[in-house]
Amino acid sequence: MSRNEKAARLAAFFVSEVYGVPHLQLRELRRTMASIAVYSVKGGVGKTTFTVNLAWCAATISRRETLLWDLDPANGSGFLLGVDPKKKRTAGSVFDQTRDPSKLIQKTDFPGLDLLPADESIRNLDRQFNRIGKKKRLAKITERLTKDYDRILFDCPPVLNEISAQTMRAADLVIVPLPPSPLSTRAFEQVIAEVRGSGKGHPPILPVLSMIDMRRTLHKDARAANPSWPIVPLASAIEQCAVERRPVGAFAPRSPATRSFAQLWTAIERKLARR
Ligand SMILES: Nc1ncnc2c1ncn2[C@@H]1O[C@H](COP(=O)(O)OP(=O)(O)OP(=O)(O)O)[C@@H](O)[C@H]1O
Ligand SMILES: [Mg+2]
Repeated sequence: MSRNEKAARLAAFFVSEVYGVPHLQLRELRRTMASIAVYSVKGGVGKTTFTVNLAWCAATISRRETLLWDLDPANGSGFLLGVDPKKKRTAGSVFDQTRDPSKLIQKTDFPGLDLLPADESIRNLDRQFNRIGKKKRLAKITERLTKDYDRILFDCPPVLNEISAQTMRAADLVIVPLPPSPLSTRAFEQVIAEVRGSGKGHPPILPVLSMIDMRRTLHKDARAANPSWPIVPLASAIEQCAVERRPVGAFAPRSPATRSFAQLWTAIERKLARR
């Protein structure tokens, strides 16, 4: 076992001991599969950071077999999970079904967490979907993957096109990170309107205030305006994920940042359990 793996197991043990009990109870209640998209039309709001940390929580705290499916050609999730890209650019072949996704899935250092990585070949995924002409292609592939995974998380690019429309059809729950501002409520309403406009019906959407700093008046006001929304703090430990190339729980298990992702994950599991 590598040093990284040992550290990952220790951190996982600590976090699951501290935060895990309600999750295990929930797991006993329902062993259902769910797919979760982290989405916003806006760039840089924390989507990739959320996806990686929540996927880690799913695998570690809830002990779910978890797959993170990166739909953004920038491959940020793979980077944050410390998984180096393969030379061959093959991510796009999953969508035209010339390759079985299981052939492209890579293990991470974290038990129970696998990655379906992105690469340059999905730079025009929008056009590829339109060319294929199957509106539920992503949903159908996701459904097949549930044979092997309890939780599938999508890291979405900041777009409003056929990629987001397919993601909405494939997801059971959509998490929208919103940086705090007096306009957060409006920004969230915009996302809902955009999602509604992209097709008939849509999955439940959970807004989350992201990068919140309670020392700032504007952030406090945004929190006060939306007291029921979960929060993820602005934290240097979270920024460090990009240096460590690990989820925050794996290198700072006792930090407030880890606690906030664990609490957010609890809220997500509860929402899923109520379906
Ligand atoms: N809670 C946080 N505290 C501090 N820094 C954060 C936090 N969340 C995200 N960041 C930082 O903000 C930047 C953008 O985050 P991230 O890449 O997750 O956003 P994104 O929405 O996926 O962006 P894109 O739309 O480009 O894919 C990164 O540098 C990340 O480290
Ligand atoms: Mg991203």
